[in-house]
Amino acid sequence: MIPRDTIMNIIDAARIEEVVGEFVSLKKRGANLIGVCPFHKEKTPSFIVSPAKGIFKCFGCGKAGDSVRFIMEHEHYSYPEALRFLAQKYGIIIEEKEQSPEEIVAQNERERMFNINSFAQQYFSDTMKNHDEGLAIGLSYFRERGFRDAIINKFQLGYCLNQRDAFIQHALKNGYSKELLLKIGLASGNEERMYDKYQGRVIFPIHNLTGKVIGFGARFLGSDKTKAKYLNSPESEIYNKSQTLYGIYFAKNEISRLDNCILVEGYADVLSMHQAGIENTVASSGTSLTTEQIRMISRYTKNVTMLYDGDNAGIHAALRGTDMILEEGMNVRIVVLPPDEDPDSFVQKNPIEEVRAYIDNNATDFISFKTKLLLKDAANDPIKRAEVLKDIVKSISLIPDAIYRASYVRECSRLMEVPEQSLTNELNKLLRAKFRKNNNIEPEQDIVHEEIKSEPQTPVEDVLPLGYYQERELVRLLMMYGNKDITIDDVDENGNPVLYKISVASFIIDDLKNDDLLFKNEIHNIIFNIFDKALDEDDIPDEHYFVSHEDTRIAELAANLLSTPYKLDNWSEKEINVKVEEDVLQKSVVTSLLRFKDMIIDDKRNDLIKELMETHDVDDQMILLAKKKRLDDLRIKINRELGIVIAK
Ligand code: CTP
Ligand code: MN
Repeated sequence: MIPRDTIMNIIDAARIEEVVGEFVSLKKRGANLIGVCPFHKEKTPSFIVSPAKGIFKCFGCGKAGDSVRFIMEHEHYSYPEALRFLAQKYGIIIEEKEQSPEEIVAQNERERMFNINSFAQQYFSDTMKNHDEGLAIGLSYFRERGFRDAIINKFQLGYCLNQRDAFIQHALKNGYSKELLLKIGLASGNEERMYDKYQGRVIFPIHNLTGKVIGFGARFLGSDKTKAKYLNSPESEIYNKSQTLYGIYFAKNEISRLDNCILVEGYADVLSMHQAGIENTVASSGTSLTTEQIRMISRYTKNVTMLYDGDNAGIHAALRGTDMILEEGMNVRIVVLPPDEDPDSFVQKNPIEEVRAYIDNNATDFISFKTKLLLKDAANDPIKRAEVLKDIVKSISLIPDAIYRASYVRECSRLMEVPEQSLTNELNKLLRAKFRKNNNIEPEQDIVHEEIKSEPQTPVEDVLPLGYYQERELVRLLMMYGNKDITIDDVDENGNPVLYKISVASFIIDDLKNDDLLFKNEIHNIIFNIFDKALDEDDIPDEHYFVSHEDTRIAELAANLLSTPYKLDNWSEKEINVKVEEDVLQKSVVTSLLRFKDMIIDDKRNDLIKELMETHDVDDQMILLAKKKRLDDLRIKINRELGIVIAK
């Protein structure tokens, strides 16, 4: 358990713009910051961070919350995991009571995996720097390949001794279990016969966005062709190959700063590029590029430069990735290296200025690249030529933005010497087919659409139950101002006017309880009960308590409420309005309560009317009518108080 005080210290220290800024490239917009949402696919930024409120909110997907919530969502951490992560980032020491054996067992699996990886990484690095074999084989291998200490240390490279189980013994001695060693892939075999998986190999730790080691790549050094060149960690709760880019932790800031990401294939390529100072480089590590990897890049930049070997395999690997990148609405350029070079060898061989110049001069947009490449294969064969055209137009059809599509059509028409119109026709055919597919329209109904429209969305308001907004407004006032005092005019028993001070929470909760009114919405009710209890204990929580609440539904609601009811895309204006609202708080509270009651009465009144229509017994009718009259009177009273005249 993390003590409550410590949690508050962590939340205070974890400035939202810093926490989010580590994962999302943010730009200043007024008092707030804006960026591309990391939680859903979007082309234009709608993800806002408010340093003043300490919260983030995406106006696209609706995710919202404070720093803790952000880390939970982003890293898929539990609440305590996220707190520990932030505590570590801000150097806050969590003084926990000694863990009991049961607690150790219960300690989160993921955390144990991170721990053992970090432990293994340190061991492999130590071995390489201090052990004779490590120095003679591991370190000298990296040195021979031209890697200097700075880059070796930065990327935490290491070496695993060529022994049966040197690492396993070390890990077991330090309390790590056999089961975990096998599961995380540091050991092979089974619990009875275990051996070090990476024997005699150099080690490349693989880091996630926050710099934690999630897996390893281990390169074989001998010339035995029957041995796998690389052994990699298996997929696990913390390592998902298709969602990982090698080097992203070290590259992300530079990718964002340069607004460009260079994509290479291998570990060695990343190291050499970074060593040469081209730090916006990451690798897909041998797997073909995935959509998840592209989305990871797209949080930092919309521009990708693929740097691939000049051989045929390299070129075709590059080509495979381009369509996916285009589909994500990103720009992609391709640089093909001279024959027999890969980025690693090329950078090691040439002065950095020449490397940069080569990249600048040879970066080709995908359309020229594909056109030239495919045309070379097609030569003068008209049928093949037509196929090439189709292939290219298909790529163009993947681009979400119509303006870009048009300019690529123009470029393609120029390069292939084909009239623009015929390309456009072909393109429209594909777009229509795609539109039909996305909207489940049968092929016969040939509807012509210029543009592919985004899917229609059901307005949320239509599906919300009656009174939701009135309830929500009261909940908002409770959360934001519950512990503030308002002054109420009243009359004492003798009919003399009196003023008294009361907290907003007490005023609202007591008033509702007085009238036996309940919220309909489950979350609203939970919050009602929190305040009810807090009033008994005389410790009224504030908005921060809710924004960082363990119950996601509450935290999300709180973050959302903090950004209503004012126009959400203009928070600086809102800041002013909030001040104004505090000034007229008493009025806000009273009118919101009245509106809530008015809604309930109206609801009851409707029920009565329905009942009246169905009742034929005259006595019953009289009773119902009397009830209705009482409600009508109440409504008139409420509305008079609300300053609204009912014109009925
Ligand atoms: N790879 C892999 N398993 C293999 C071969 C390759 O995981 N058996 C991945 C590695 O991530 C590697 C990348 O594919 O970095 C590119 O492969 P390659 O060019 O062969 O590796 P390099 O890292 O460039 O190795 P080196 O330059 O040392 O030969
Ligand atoms: Mn290589």
